[in-house]
Formats: sequence, C-alpha cells, structure tokens
Amino acid sequence: MATVEVRDLRKRYQDFLALDGVSLKAETGQLVTLLGPSGCGKSTTLRCLAGFLEANGGEITVDGESILGTPANRRGFGVVFQNYALFPHMTVAENIGYGLKIQKLPKSEIETRVYDAMKLVRLDGLGDRLPRAISGGQQQRVALARALVLKPKLLLLDEPLANLDARLRDEVRWLIRDLQQQSGITAFYVTHDQSEAMAMSDMVAVMKAGRVAQFATPREIYQKPTERYVADFTGEANFIPCQSVTPQGEGRYAITAAGATLELEGVPGITGPAELLLRPEALSLTAPEAGTFKGTVTKSAFLGAALHCEITLPDGSMLKLAAEPNHKVRTGEVVGIAIDNSHAWLMPEVAP
Ligand SMILES: Nc1ncnc2c1ncn2[C@@H]1O[C@H](COP(=O)(O)OP(=O)(O)OP(=O)(O)O)[C@@H](O)[C@H]1O
Ligand SMILES: [Mg+2]
Repeated sequence: MATVEVRDLRKRYQDFLALDGVSLKAETGQLVTLLGPSGCGKSTTLRCLAGFLEANGGEITVDGESILGTPANRRGFGVVFQNYALFPHMTVAENIGYGLKIQKLPKSEIETRVYDAMKLVRLDGLGDRLPRAISGGQQQRVALARALVLKPKLLLLDEPLANLDARLRDEVRWLIRDLQQQSGITAFYVTHDQSEAMAMSDMVAVMKAGRVAQFATPREIYQKPTERYVADFTGEANFIPCQSVTPQGEGRYAITAAGATLELEGVPGITGPAELLLRPEALSLTAPEAGTFKGTVTKSAFLGAALHCEITLPDGSMLKLAAEPNHKVRTGEVVGIAIDNSHAWLMPEVAP
C-alpha cells in the first residue's frame, strides 16, 4: 500500500505548458479523483504518474521516495486507460494473466490468481472467450482484472467507464469503488463527470488549465468551493454579487446582496469584492414578505420530484431552485425566497 505525493508537476508539449505546477496527494487506501473539463491536464498528470510521460519539473514520490527515475514497467502500478485495448487474439484469461506470464511466475500460480481476479470482477466462466465475444462492460472488467491481478500498490484509472452506457457505468463504477476499498489500494481516477467524482472519491482535485484549482473532500468542494470555477463545475450553482461585505472573524461575514442582509460563512480572508453562492438546496419558496429575498418567477417546470423555478431578483440576478413539487407558481408572480444560511457560502469574486 502506498502514500503518493505529486508536487509542483510541470509538463510541456513542445511550447505548450500542459501542467503548470500540479500538486496533490493520496494517502494509503484513498481514491483521489482528478476532475475537470477537456484539455485541463487530467490524462497528462496520470501519464506522468504511470511513467508513460516524462515530467519537465516537479516531483512524484511513493512512500516518500522519488519515482521519477523509475521506468513505467518497474513502478508496479496497475493502469486502466480508456483506450488501453485488450489483446484481441488472446482469451479473457490470457489477457488477465499476461502480466504475470511476463513476470515468469509458475503456471499454477498464474492460473489461481487469474481465477481469483475473474471472480473478483464477476467474469467467472468467461475465461475462454475472446474479447470480441464479450460486452463492453465485460471488456472493461477484463481491463480492471488485468490491472488488479498484479496486486499493484497504486491503481491509475483514466475515464475507465467512458465507453459504457449509463446503466453499465453505474454498475462498473461501484464495482471499482468496492474493489478499491476492500483491497485498500491507493488509486487515482480521472473523470469529467462531476457526480461520478463526488460519489466515488475520498478526495477530489478540480483542475483548471494545467493547475489544481481546489483539492479537498467531495463535501468541501461542493459546499465550500474556493472560487466560482469550482462551484460551477461541481453542481448547480446560483451566484449573487454582494454590495457590502463585513468580516466578522473566523471566516464569517455579514453581507448585503440583492437588497437583503445575511450572516454566513465563506472563504477565509476575503477583503475585496465577493459573491454569494447559493446551491438549489439553500433555497425555498415562501410568501413574498416572509423571505430573505423577493423576486419574480420567470420560469417554472414540473419535473415530478420537484418544481424547478427560475426567479429574477431586483438586482437582475437569477436564482434557480427546486421547490416542493406541490407548490404552484405562475410566471410573473412575485414570491419570497427563504435562505438556509448553512447552505450559503461567500466567495471572493476573483480567485485567490
Ligand atoms: N502529445 C501532445 N502534444 C501536444 N499537446 C498535447 C499532447 N497531449 C496533450 N496535449 C495537450 O495538453 C492539454 C492537456 O491534455 P490532457 O490529455 O491531459 O487533457 P485531459 O484533461 O485529459 O482532457 P480530456 O478530458 O479531453 O481527456 C490539452 O490542451 C492537449 O491538447
Ligand atoms: Mg484525458
């Protein structure tokens, strides 16, 4: 098992700086997700970890020892990449056992370990099939078993579910998380799916143009984002500019925004302009005079489990909220909006 630390990692492709000082850490047994839009450097980070790419600066350590001088095949990591194809002419069992054969282990040990790995990922009985004769989800599980059979100290997964349909994604996702937790293997997982990152991870690194914008637990990333980019990328978010901000000490602030006065928590040390983050669950509809804010309904849609509303405030800000489904509102109606301050959060307008 392994603690893995990436410090100030830099990677240049010709004159393009793809990684501009990436730092993150996985404690033993943690699953750390790299989350971010296309092109932000997720795969590049993972490829540097795997040893498929050479970094131009920074450090990667495993249990405190640098691995930058160790070639990929000596790092002892398991790798499952989106396009890491299976060998088409080998059976499922041969694919899974390939790495062990290279290590020249005795045939009987290979057989036992392949059998155990197939059972682990629920591929029992499919060992003699060729990859083209099994489904996409099964192929993905073969790739996973092929990595796990080597008992790696670190598992690297780059969008391993990208080719699967929604139902299979869900199934294989939980299988990965279960196996990873049961075996206590440290893992890095790449995705651009926000809900996948939130559901699976111990820690999430939200990446932005070759850097880590925030590295924290899923809960913190969602409830206490350090900047608008992170808030936007991790779920539905409403932003309201503040007219005044008065620090109250210990990350608490008194603010005025869209004609209302609020006291709430926020990013520590805000001194300049700030904006209020209101997730949909911070908001509920009330009578016009009873709410913190008063606004006009500009859109509403009944979605079964909730009534989705868009409400425009006097300062022009727009709030999206999910109201109790039996609530009835008309477009143009003036409503009150109650705020649950424990779900509200203040952020600096410019990233720290
Ligand atoms: N071999 C290469 N040569 C030049 N530029 C590259 C190369 N590989 C990646 N890049 C660039 O580096 C940046 C980061 O790429 P990377 O593959 O790490 O992104 P990513 O976050 O994994 O994106 P995606 O979600 O699309 O897979 C991108 O702008 C990409 O165009
Ligand atoms: Mg990628």
